Parts: sequence; C-alpha cells; structure tokens
Amino acid sequence: MSEKTTTRVKVIASGDRTILPEGTKMIPVYIMGKKYMLPETLTIQKAIEYAGYQFIRACGCRGGICGACPTVWRVKGNYQLQFGLACQTVIEADMVLAQLPFFPANRATYNLDELTAAGEAIASLYPEVMKCVGCNTCTRACPMEIDVMGYINSAMRGDVARAAKTSFDCIQCGLCSARCPAQIAHYHVAQLCRRIFGRYVLPPAAHLESRVEEITSGRYDGFLEELKGKSEDELRKLYVGREPEPQDSTGWEPRDKTYL
Ligand code: SF4
Ligand code: SF4
Ligand code: FES
Repeated sequence: MSEKTTTRVKVIASGDRTILPEGTKMIPVYIMGKKYMLPETLTIQKAIEYAGYQFIRACGCRGGICGACPTVWRVKGNYQLQFGLACQTVIEADMVLAQLPFFPANRATYNLDELTAAGEAIASLYPEVMKCVGCNTCTRACPMEIDVMGYINSAMRGDVARAAKTSFDCIQCGLCSARCPAQIAHYHVAQLCRRIFGRYVLPPAAHLESRVEEITSGRYDGFLEELKGKSEDELRKLYVGREPEPQDSTGWEPRDKTYL
C-alpha cells in the first residue's frame, strides 16, 4: 500500500458539489491502496470523487435505493471486514476501501409461465436455500433493515407471499450474499418470489393493463419519434424545464397533459 499522501483543501461550494461545514477535519482514507486526506463529513462515494476519481460503474441513485454502490472496508487495526453502501456511509479515519461492482451470484433461468403459486420451484431453482444455517449474518448486513433470513426461511417453505412481502424493499445490493456462508443469492431468490407472487397470487392490475394497451396501440409512438428527432441540447432543455412531480404525488397530474 502506497503511503504517498494526497491532500486537497480547496472546495468548490456550488451546485451539487461538496460544501464542507466550517472546521471540517481532513482524515486519512485509503482508496485503491493509496492514502488520501479527505473531509470527515463526506460519504464514501463523495470522498472517492473528492479524491479525484470519477464513477463509471458502482454508482447510481446516490440515495440508497439502486443498490449499485456496495463497498467493503477495513479500518486499520481492526481485523473485521465491514460492508455498506458508499452513498450512505460516512468515512472514518484509516478506512481502507474496496468497491464491489457486482456479485457473481447464481441466477437461475426459468419461464414464469411454467411455475405455480405453490413455490415448490424455489428449492429446485435455488437449492442452496436449503443450506441456510440460521446465522442471521444476512439480516445484519442489510442496509435496508430487511429480515433477510426471514424471507429465505419463507422461500425454503415455499411461502412466496411472505417472502415477497418481507423482501419488498430489497435494493439488490448483494451485501447479504457477500456474507452468507451457504452462498445463497438472496436477492435473486427474493425476486423469484415476488415474480411468482405478482403473477399468480395478486389480482391483475386493471390500470396497468389499460396502460399496456395504450402503449401497444401506438398512442405514444408519435411523441417518441418527436423526442428522437431532438438534439441533445433540446432534450436537456425539455428535461430541466419539466414540471416537477411533488414528493407526495398521490392524485397528482401535470398541468400539461399533452403526453398523458
Ligand atoms: S447468511 Fe446465509 S446461512 Fe446465514 S442466515 Fe442468512 S441465508 Fe442463512
Ligand atoms: S436483502 Fe440483500 S440485496 Fe436486498 S437490500 Fe438487503 S442486503 Fe441488499
Ligand atoms: S448509488 Fe444507489 S444505493 Fe448507492
């Protein structure tokens, strides 16, 4: 590990750039094995950018929702590996960071139309669920505070409804799978349960069916062609000038209904 220190103290305080509170301390953090002095108030994600790196992968929503930024670290002097989302975890002194762009987890291939609501396919598509040793490490690793072991136990029993509901907030970050001694791909198992639940247990969503009908009948084809004919600048203007959706959008409709 290189001990060469890089220190940047100039902060551009505008737009979505980093704005540091007065008196913020610079602390040592290791990125790709190299030591940087970074503001203690930053998340791992912003600290990595502050150090001069640009994310091409392993970064998405920046809000703890997309699951793209799982990160592993050790703090010097502590043997334990720690895991978290880079966009949600604030740095600490002597962190040694490694980004995980994806987990090489087993993903089964199946035809949803050939499955049933009984959920008996889960154990054959993902036989490793039967090897769960009940350690609960997956639950402790989950940044969404999901009862991960609970939904795996439901999946083992073929209880797709319970597994689907318990795993509903899963962001597919894979942190549970990184820790599991039984090598279970929890988030793929959960997705299968939600798919079976949506396909065979929940009643069909009438509003979704009518929207699909609108799309397949070509209602939006003209609008899409119009957008495809615009330059990048025109598209940017359209995007920036769009009517923003409120935080609570229940019952909300845009003033301009041209594209509804
Ligand atoms: S980490 Fe793996 S083995 Fe441990 S409880 Fe979770 S699913 Fe079971
Ligand atoms: S269940 Fe696993 S993949 Fe889903 S959010 Fe929790 S840790 Fe991430
Ligand atoms: S960037 Fe989306 S969860 Fe971190």
